[in-house]
This record gives sequence, C-alpha cells and structure tokens, in this order.
Amino acid sequence: MIGIIAAMDVEMNSLRSYMENTETEVISGIRFVRGSLEGKDVVTAVCGIGKVFAALCAQTMILHYQPQCIINTGVAGTLTDALTIGSIAVSSAVVQHDMDTSALGDPVGLISGINKVELPADRLLSGQLSACAKVMGVKTATGVIASGDQFVASQERKAFIVEHFKAIACEMEGAAIGQVCHVNKVPFCVLRAISDSADGSSHMDYPTFVKMAAEQSVNLLRRFMRC
Ligand code: ADE
Repeated sequence: MIGIIAAMDVEMNSLRSYMENTETEVISGIRFVRGSLEGKDVVTAVCGIGKVFAALCAQTMILHYQPQCIINTGVAGTLTDALTIGSIAVSSAVVQHDMDTSALGDPVGLISGINKVELPADRLLSGQLSACAKVMGVKTATGVIASGDQFVASQERKAFIVEHFKAIACEMEGAAIGQVCHVNKVPFCVLRAISDSADGSSHMDYPTFVKMAAEQSVNLLRRFMRC
C-alpha cells in the first residue's frame, strides 16, 4: 500500500474523487481514506498545515497502515528560476529551514539526534515521479525541498533558504514527514507543484494558482500509479 499525504483539502479532494472501494477511519483527528487508485492500493490523509500535524499524520499512518512508502503531495513556493508556476518539484532530499541550533555551534538546519541537515528521499521514487512529470511534458526539477512553519513570502527569507540549503522549493510539511519516515525506515518522496514565487512579489499568486497547481500534482500521481 502506498501512503499519500497532503496538507490541505484543495490538494487532496480531486485525487480522492478518482479512488474506488474507499473505506474511511478517523484516527487522532485525521481522516484516513483507503482504497484503490488506478488499480493500486493507497491510503490517503489530509494532515493539516505545518510540521507538527504532518509528523503526527505520518507516524499514525505508518503505525496503522504500514505503507510501503509515503508520498507527500501538494503545492510549494519556488526558490529557483528553473521552476515557474505549475512546474513540478521532486525531492532528492528534505531540510527544515527553521531548525536552528547554530547558537550552539551547529550548522543551520541540523536535526539534533539524527545529526543530519538533509534527509534523503527514496531515489527510486524520486526518479519515477520525475520521469512521469517529463512524460507528461511538465517542467520539472529534482532537488532539496525545504520545509518550515512559515509561509515564505519575502525576498530575505527566500534568499536565506537558498543560501543555506540550495533548496528548489519551500513548503510546510515535507521535511517533517521525511523525518518520521527516516526514523521508521519508510521510503518517502515529496512531490509539489509550484503555486507562488515565495518572495511576496505578487500577493495574488497563491490564491490564484493553488487550485491549478494542486491539480498538476494530482495528475502526476495518477499517472505514477499507472506505471
Ligand atoms: N506552500 C505553497 N507556497 C508556499 C510558500 N511560499 N511558503 C510555504 N509553503 C508554501
């Protein structure tokens, strides 16, 4: 079974409309919908926004459903000219850009206990997802995806994340899901469609493009399930 986690309904509703033979369970306040998508067994969840909800959801999903892997899907802000609105970012690794014990001499982003800044995504999953995006003719890039408990909307914060992590996209859940998967030895990947510029330059970007971008991720996931 493949686990799929999105943060918001707008990132999941359409995907769920393509599922068959669904069964729903609410655990720890999260609605898990299990069923088949393009003939593959999946369990889906909308975790809510931010790293704590994301971690709670991933751990609960792992304990209750034992998914063979988890894909975190949805939208993200771009951190590179290579990704414009509607393009797809696939994670090679994830980082937490708001994790900071540098006052104690650690590198910015170091996850104490694991002692790493970057947590690698599953190479096979990343490769397959990016291959699907290419087949669909969607502009795509694979690289570091940065998560933090903030909607990035300033040139300063965007530059900080690029400078420290060389990340290609920013969002608010992927690295928390990645950390839970890493600890539980469950392969994971983050797949995000770009919804905004992450620099506050055009405040209309996000509401205007979030639906369209979310649909892009859904189309890609459906194609991935068919492979
Ligand atoms: N999700 C979509 N766009 C984002 C942004 N700019 N910052 C954080 N999360 C996002």
